[in-house]
Amino acid sequence: MADRNYRTALVTGASSGLGRGLALWYARKGVRVYAAARRREHLEALAQEALASGSRIEPVELDVSDGDATVARVRELDDACGGLELIVANAGFGRETSAKRLDWETVRQTIDVNVTGAAATLTAVLPRMVERKKGHVVGVASLAAFRGLPRNAAYSASKAYLSTFMESLRVDLKGTGVDVTCIYPGFVKSEMTAQNKFPMPFLLETEDAVELMAGAIARGEAAYAFPWQMAGVGSVLRLLPNALFDRLVRKAR
Ligand SMILES: NC(=O)c1ccc[n+]([C@@H]2O[C@H](COP(=O)([O-])OP(=O)(O)OC[C@H]3O[C@@H](n4cnc5c(N)ncnc54)[C@H](OP(=O)(O)O)[C@@H]3O)[C@@H](O)[C@H]2O)c1
Repeated sequence: MADRNYRTALVTGASSGLGRGLALWYARKGVRVYAAARRREHLEALAQEALASGSRIEPVELDVSDGDATVARVRELDDACGGLELIVANAGFGRETSAKRLDWETVRQTIDVNVTGAAATLTAVLPRMVERKKGHVVGVASLAAFRGLPRNAAYSASKAYLSTFMESLRVDLKGTGVDVTCIYPGFVKSEMTAQNKFPMPFLLETEDAVELMAGAIARGEAAYAFPWQMAGVGSVLRLLPNALFDRLVRKAR
């Protein structure tokens, strides 16, 4: 798998955490980066930070939960830059809720961002990429996609959707010149994990996670789960029969 040199990139969820880190990482490599999220002021600050280090990031105010608006905006960006070469669907929403207290608002918001938002972002210019015989689409799923984790019904299921979506894309797009990568992070420091009140084994610094993700994308990995310790746990959980899985995760929580 050869290293990839992109000219243009779109990263969603770029106002904080992994998306912010990835946007900066690519900008510093000389890629023209569109950084998308809802919080404009965070994106402006990111653009300033890039500028200070001699690179360029263009802020894109976008709420990915509106699928149609997302498709339209991604197509506009594609037109404006002469073709997006890398698209990272990273925007995500997660809120731990026991099924005993699960409310529709949380479920809907999770689906809107993690399912509708990601699918719209990844689909918007896919036929154009195929026509150009060039492109790389990346979905940021989660190790939570591997099984239905406790207190994570909406989140685990939304990431399982993305994981399966990326797998089908990968199979269909083989040989077209369009690469497909699905990333499964374990615990990484970010705004999302700052709200967690439980222990997070092998918690990574954002910068370290960004390096790992950018490396996997550059290598064109089909699927990349990290850190290896948590990826190992996830793979074992995947194989467990339901009765054993239920007992184990209930105890762990
Ligand atoms: N951190 C972890 O341990 C971990 C583990 C596994 C997977 N992940 C996944 O990694 C991705 C990045 O998460 P993170 O940890 O970096 O969390 P984060 O710091 O909370 O970042 C989430 C990003 O998503 C954006 N976002 C949320 N709703 C949006 C919407 N409706 N429209 C557009 N953007 C939206 C946020 O920007 P605005 O609020 O400004 O819109 C923010 O930039 C997510 O998909 C997450 O599920 C993270």
